[in-house]
Amino acid sequence: MFWSKIAGVYDLVENAYNGKANARTTDYVASLMTGDDKVLECACGTGMFSVKIAPRVKDLTATDLAEGMLRQTARKCKAFGNVRVEPGDITELRFADDTFDKAVAANVIHLVDDPKKAIDELKRVVKPGGMIIIPTYIHFDRSIAANVFNKAGAGFKRHFTEENYKKFFEDLGIDDVKFNVLDGRMQCDVAVFTNG
Ligand SMILES: C[S@@+](CC[C@H](N)C(=O)[O-])C[C@H]1O[C@@H](n2cnc3c(N)ncnc32)[C@H](O)[C@@H]1O
Repeated sequence: MFWSKIAGVYDLVENAYNGKANARTTDYVASLMTGDDKVLECACGTGMFSVKIAPRVKDLTATDLAEGMLRQTARKCKAFGNVRVEPGDITELRFADDTFDKAVAANVIHLVDDPKKAIDELKRVVKPGGMIIIPTYIHFDRSIAANVFNKAGAGFKRHFTEENYKKFFEDLGIDDVKFNVLDGRMQCDVAVFTNG
């Protein structure tokens, strides 16, 4: 799988190309966590968000489809006693209904064939009143790194802008979404909503 193959260089490219936006986005997402939270992270990748979330929550389950990515997250999160790292498909989660207080799915919603199914799964496993946080790169057509990833086989299914990202949630009937665009070479738009 593409993501497993590039797991060893992902951080290098991300930090060199988009370090500022990534630092701002991961700090912002971490700031939404509280000490009692039981958190699910889908598509954790190399653990860029996991390492910021873990110290702030009760426990974190970090999941991804790609074994290579999971190995990176497991290595980085070894020092935390509260992180479980395991395989998982965001469109077919293996957790019972209402398991988590919060879910994070960063930079993956543009990759899946059926994003509605992914969002429905997040809503199913997060408790009513819990928080769902979906940071997604926008305008990646302007990004050299994203274009290189895509040509190499990342397989982006859709391309978000600030406007069509808002519409994406409206079309799913999800109101009251708060958006926060974090600046950098490749901006990241963080969508946050309360599970209804
Ligand atoms: C662009 S990377 C983002 C990784 C991390 N969230 C970040 O922002 O650094 C996309 C990740 O999504 C994962 N992925 C792709 N499709 C997935 C799916 N259906 N379920 C879970 N993870 C998936 C890939 O393996 C990869 O690790």
